[in-house]
Amino acid sequence: MDIEGSVVLVTGANRGIGRALVDAFLARGAARVYAAARNPASLDPVVAGDPARVVPVEVDLSAPDTIAAAATTAADVTLLVNNAGSHGMGHLLDMDLALVEEVMRTNYLGTLRVLRAFAPVIEGNGGGAVVNVISIGAFGGTPSLGGYPASKAALHSLTQAVRPDLAPRGISVHGVFPGPVDTDMFDDVLGHEPVFGEFPRATAAEVARATLDGIAADAEDIFPDSFAAEVGEMWRVDPKGVERRLSGI
Ligand SMILES: NC(=O)c1ccc[n+]([C@@H]2O[C@H](COP(=O)([O-])OP(=O)(O)OC[C@H]3O[C@@H](n4cnc5c(N)ncnc54)[C@H](OP(=O)(O)O)[C@@H]3O)[C@@H](O)[C@H]2O)c1
Repeated sequence: MDIEGSVVLVTGANRGIGRALVDAFLARGAARVYAAARNPASLDPVVAGDPARVVPVEVDLSAPDTIAAAATTAADVTLLVNNAGSHGMGHLLDMDLALVEEVMRTNYLGTLRVLRAFAPVIEGNGGGAVVNVISIGAFGGTPSLGGYPASKAALHSLTQAVRPDLAPRGISVHGVFPGPVDTDMFDDVLGHEPVFGEFPRATAAEVARATLDGIAADAEDIFPDSFAAEVGEMWRVDPKGVERRLSGI
């Protein structure tokens, strides 16, 4: 998809990868970027970067009314980036089940809600693209990451399932599978499991740039950093090897 002139909405745009994606879309000539966050005040520094093109909008993945309202406000969107996500550390067999449920509700059901709200918008604007920020964690069950890998595997499956439905409506669907990225989320993971510090960490800006390269090249599966690319290569030829690699982290 042509990024220049597109009208983009990025969820979770106030920090981390989402904020870097906003910057990357602006740098590549997007006409407008709706920066979505559950706390619109947290978007002030993002809007200040380019007040003429960045529009703040409230989207809380756990609040369907905010999603419906955003689809009305941002009625000219042609490119939706489902980036917002959460995680909760623990082992599935004994951690708080409420945390597992919350992560699944946010990363899977919340993302699905946003997609359902915006697919008709994008179609009505002549077509475009949906980009789901998943994780290499979708390909294996890292034990200490609780319900996170399952939520991302579910999002990966969703991405595959909607692709054939959206193609005839003029909407391409892309999955992005980052490895470890230097953000608040990864800092929290490191705080619980310092062993993750042994892995190379990409910057959010790198991941954002590579994601846009993938969209522009019409790549369905985007591996936006060097560790992700290594896992992606292995996943294509040896999925059990990936399972062992990720479960051994
Ligand atoms: N960092 C990594 O190593 C890594 C690797 C692979 C994939 N990813 C994925 O990349 C995406 C961005 O993560 P990040 O690393 O940039 O993490 P981050 O810095 O923790 O940012 C997470 C973003 O998601 C938002 N968010 C969380 N729950 C939300 C909800 N219910 N409604 C709306 N927004 C919500 C947060 O908003 P608040 O500021 O309001 O909390 C924040 O903007 C996530 O989907 C994550 O799973 C990250």
